[in-house]
Amino acid sequence: MSSQPSAAASASANPLDELIAYFEGDYVALKDAKVSIMTHAFMYGTATFEGIRAYWNAEQNTLYALFVREHARRIRSSAKMLMMENLPSEDELVDIITETVRRNGFRQDAYVRPSFYKSTRAIGVRLHHLDHELYVIATPFGNYIDIEKGVRVMSSSWRRNADEALPARGKLVGGYVNMAFQKSEAELNGFDEALVMTPSGHASEGSAANLFVVRDGVLLTPPVSDDILEGVTRKAILGLAADLGIPTEVRSIDRSELYICDEVFLVGTGVQVSPVIEVDHRPVGEGKIGPISRRLSERYFAAVRGNLPEYKSWLTAIK
Ligand SMILES: Cc1ncc(COP(=O)(O)O)c(C=O)c1O
Repeated sequence: MSSQPSAAASASANPLDELIAYFEGDYVALKDAKVSIMTHAFMYGTATFEGIRAYWNAEQNTLYALFVREHARRIRSSAKMLMMENLPSEDELVDIITETVRRNGFRQDAYVRPSFYKSTRAIGVRLHHLDHELYVIATPFGNYIDIEKGVRVMSSSWRRNADEALPARGKLVGGYVNMAFQKSEAELNGFDEALVMTPSGHASEGSAANLFVVRDGVLLTPPVSDDILEGVTRKAILGLAADLGIPTEVRSIDRSELYICDEVFLVGTGVQVSPVIEVDHRPVGEGKIGPISRRLSERYFAAVRGNLPEYKSWLTAIK
């Protein structure tokens, strides 16, 4: 439980309070976007969300939101799994998300989080006969992993929640407790990230990122049937690799392949492209960022910031 705020603390306003959020049909100050503690989503995790990045390009004086339509599509699919009906269309969602970002007037990188949540105040765990609402938060944001350093990962002792238990392909709020177990175990053991296995022992993904492995010049990633979130960044990286003529193969990956492969990297909206330099105390390749990881990450970072005209379709300029 948090302690009582001191007079000094309550006098200095939290800068987050001044952000503009979309909340239940209106654009409001974040400090006014409040729900009851009896909200179903708060009590049972019955909500879905997306994480979207927006990149500031100072030379072009433009903020670019990345893959907004793809995230709008995925959140609608996740909401469908949660039996939410009468959702805004993909176009309406794209408009609400971009308008929320626009109203904040950011001139720096930002993170955007839309969420459909079960808004009925009710006790009783279920999905049906409950109302839902939408919020969109937008906040300034930077890298949260040191990309140049490379990350050290450990195989998690926690399994990815299987499709027949809690579908990983849905970005479901309650499901993120699974990732929280994995991430805390990894960090408290001195690693940067967790590598999570499927219930049958194949490498699935990171705690909130998809997995790529390079073996003998071929880029490998697990299939969507290996309990992964069907990542927007994963798809973009497969496209970038094809454009660069790097051979790719989508197939299940054994844990021991991670110990003998040439390169490993994680991708996702949050981690972007994060090369892995160590798995379970074994160096990956030479123990430093490999050439394919470097090529792909350089292309990715140039594309997301609006510096590669051929990938402008990834971006929505916020005007
Ligand atoms: C569990 C999980 N896997 C993978 C990803 C990567 O997905 P995306 O590239 O769509 O952000 C995320 C989110 O970032 C995630 O939470």
